[in-house]
Formats: sequence, structure tokens, C-alpha cells
Amino acid sequence: MPIKIVPRSACRGSEITPEAVYLSRRQLLGASGALLAGAALPGWALAAASSYGDVEAAKGPDWFERKLPDTRWQAATVKGEDITPFKDATHYNNFYEFGPDKSDPAAHAGQLPTQPWSVVVDGEVGKPGTYGLEDLFGPDTLEERIYRMRCVEAWSMVIPWLGFPLASLLKRVEPNGKARYVRFETLKDPQHMPGMNSSFALLDWPYVEGLRLDEAMHPLTLMTVGMYGRVLPNQNGAPLRLIVPWKYGFKGIKSIVRISLVEEQPRTTWQGMAPNEYGFYANVNPEVDHPRWSQARERRLPSGLFSPNVRPTLMFNGYGEEVASLYSGMDLRRNY
Ligand code: MTE
Repeated sequence: MPIKIVPRSACRGSEITPEAVYLSRRQLLGASGALLAGAALPGWALAAASSYGDVEAAKGPDWFERKLPDTRWQAATVKGEDITPFKDATHYNNFYEFGPDKSDPAAHAGQLPTQPWSVVVDGEVGKPGTYGLEDLFGPDTLEERIYRMRCVEAWSMVIPWLGFPLASLLKRVEPNGKARYVRFETLKDPQHMPGMNSSFALLDWPYVEGLRLDEAMHPLTLMTVGMYGRVLPNQNGAPLRLIVPWKYGFKGIKSIVRISLVEEQPRTTWQGMAPNEYGFYANVNPEVDHPRWSQARERRLPSGLFSPNVRPTLMFNGYGEEVASLYSGMDLRRNY
């Protein structure tokens, strides 16, 4: 049964500066002037709103097809918020292992072999090991969850994911009393990930993310293997990706090969890159601005010159009722 997103306020007409937002993040990464000039007219500006209708067919592995729920593909809008067209969700991506441009993942990620795939589970667990993807599921079937996704760069989408709760995976591997955080690691494969070899590649690979154990166990936190009723496209993080809908999109680590239960708060990739700009928690918060841009509003894709589709950012991305209690008593300005 899909978890429906809850509508809050309607769009407002006021503008923000979309390219400036994401380009400034790329400047942080050392982008060249030529690179910046090339991005003047992003592809999404031309995209027409459609939704589920434009999904490219793709058959997943047998275990994936067996576990698909019958209830998928039911909605094109959810309580007034359109599901983002598949084309936008798969051609406007951040996956720096494949390059810095929004179009690089769709252009290059197809070459990454994703079958077979295994994930190392280690650290403070009773059942460490190297698990095949299907074993990681255990008896779980796939659920469709329609979530908002809010990037720290101030754009957002609404995406129907297919996955299973991270909590059930964690319970199966039996965290012990010392486990306080979960650390995730992406594949490091320069042969198939051209972004790692470019002079632009300033990130410290592999890409690392982390959650507090109670965040990881929250029922909204999803291990994702599909979207739009089909197997996950490579550019979106195939074959296994994390989705934490109340946090900025960079917490959603892609192509995961290692899950470690640890005692200490893990050092994440973006924290390492710019600790004053990207925190460990990264909860969506309209009141805590990024040091270089406002987080009060966001562009809902598709967005263009004549319909910028700007809307107010929602606290915890609209999931406050479910997750605010995880942070009671915490100063969210300091713990950004
Ligand atoms: N995971 C890895 N391994 N590498 C990345 O560069 N980018 C993150 C996140 N996961 C990233 C990643 C960022 S910044 C965002 S906003 C989302 O993936 C984008 O997900 P999407 O491309 O499916 O929209």
C-alpha cells in the first residue's frame, strides 16, 4: 500500500535562481568556466508534465519481478501534487561518480554492471556477511512508496519508489548493544564510473553516508530497488539505494555495497567536503538556510521560465508528524 504524501500549501509565484543554486555547489567542487557555460539551459526546462505514462519498460531480475506488488502504478497525482515525469527523474540526476553535470548519470551510468551484486554487512551485528541482493530482502515483498524528494540545491520531485524498510533488513542482521549508527558506502569502480577519473573528481571516494540507528529504523526509511513500477535505472542508484524522505537528497546514497553498524557517528562525504555547509543530519528545514542560498522555497520539477513551479519548503519535507519526535530537544540550527 503506497504511503501517500500529504499536501500542504499551494505554489507561490515568486522566483528563485535555479542555476545559480546548483552551479554554486559545483563551483565548490571546482567546476571550470566552460562547464558552467554548458549548463545554461537545463533539459528539464523543456520537459512537459506527463507522469507515469512515459516510463521506459525494463525487466528486472527474476527475484525483483516476483516481489513486485500488484498495487503499483495507481496514481499520477497524490492529493494535488503531481508525480514527477519519469523523464525528469531519470535525466536530471546527481551521481558524481559519473560526472558533475545533471545529464552525466543518464549518459554514463548504463555501463555499470549491477548483476550480480552483493553487499557487505559488518560491524556491530550478530550476522555479518556478504549478502546477495535477494538475501538482503529476506521474506519482504516490495512496497510502493510515493515520497517527495528535496535536494539541498532547492529543487524537488515526487517519486514512486519500490523498496522495503531498512528496519527489516537491520533486524535480520541483529545489531548488538554497541550499534548506534549505520554507515553506508557506494561502489568504487573507476573503470565503470568515469566521473571518478576526471580532474573534477574532488570528492573523496567512495561516497559515504550515515544515519543514527533510530533514523535508520524509522518506518519511512526505505531501501530502494525500483521506481515508477520498474527496476531502478542505473543513474538513480541501481541496484540498491537509500531513501530518507525527510532529509536532503544527498543522504540517499546510491549503488550501496557496504552497510556497517558502528558506534561512532560516521564521517560522510559532504561533511568531509564542506562541513560548514553540509551536516550529518541534513533534515529538510525551511528555517535553516544553506550558507550560500535560502532553503525557504524550492522548485518542483519540471520547472521552466514560464512555469517556475516554486513552492514553499516544508519542515521535514512534510513528514514532521512522523519524524519530528526523533529530534525533540535538539537544536536543529546547530545540528543541520
Ligand atoms: N550517491 C552517490 N553514490 N553519489 C552521488 O553523487 N548524489 C546524492 C544522492 N546520492 C549522490 C548519491 C545527491 S546530491 C542527490 S540530490 C541524490 O542522490 C539525487 O538522486 P537522483 O539523481 O535520483 O535524483
